[in-house]
Amino acid sequence: TMSRKLIVGGNWKCNGTQDDVKRIVEFLNKAEVPCTNHIEVVIAPPAPFLPILRSTLRSDFNLAAQNCWTGKGGAFTGEISAEMLMNLNVPWVILGHSERRTLLGESDEVNGRVFPQQVLLSMHLWCPMVAEKVAYALSQGMKVILCCGETLEQREKNETTMVVARQIKAVADKIQSWNNVVIAYEPIWAIGTGKVATPQQAQEVHANIRAWLSQNVGEAVAQAVRIQYGGSVTAANCKEIGSQPDVDGFLVGGASLKPEFADILNARI
Ligand code: G3P
Repeated sequence: TMSRKLIVGGNWKCNGTQDDVKRIVEFLNKAEVPCTNHIEVVIAPPAPFLPILRSTLRSDFNLAAQNCWTGKGGAFTGEISAEMLMNLNVPWVILGHSERRTLLGESDEVNGRVFPQQVLLSMHLWCPMVAEKVAYALSQGMKVILCCGETLEQREKNETTMVVARQIKAVADKIQSWNNVVIAYEPIWAIGTGKVATPQQAQEVHANIRAWLSQNVGEAVAQAVRIQYGGSVTAANCKEIGSQPDVDGFLVGGASLKPEFADILNARI
């Protein structure tokens, strides 16, 4: 509803060069957006570009990393810690993105049946867990965009509600406060496919997520937590999806690299 502040994220994924960064920052800095009392904008470039973005991007847009380590930094080659992100003035992190869950083996649980990936088995108990990452990032004062969503197969088997609830429960079990968490519902079949969920499909899952939070965490949290929709969001389809009562913004992939992202920021205008 209008009482929850709209939040739009641009997830660049593993894309871009320094020249692209310049070009994108140019159109972002020029973009006319509703007053930041009404909208929050969070840009998530690949980690190497975070510092240059922080020094060139307008200050009313925040930055997110696309991942971070499960705990304090140390001997974890290749990882990025929440402490470093905070130190770089990057207060947000996207966690549990489906690409990390399916390609990198991030899971809800350590020993659960929730291991669809062969790769996970080879990682033994050592796999970075989404819930652990969320809890640690929050403990360091970060804000988290927690992604969830079902595969096409799961949707066709009517498992959407269960899958999403399981993904959120794993996190709910490990955190005390939802103040700094935004949920991004990203049906996997809609990611990068051009096959956007219908406004009704998005609304239904968002409402179910809120119902789950209400029953398992509390009504106040259920009403306050913002739920973004992600998956093939474009300037052309964002208005309709964004007008659904339980859709509080978007997490945009492909279109966040293009000038049309500015139009998506104005979906509710
Ligand atoms: O995190 C955003 C994302 O997964 C959606 O990607 O390219 O379908 O907008 P895209």
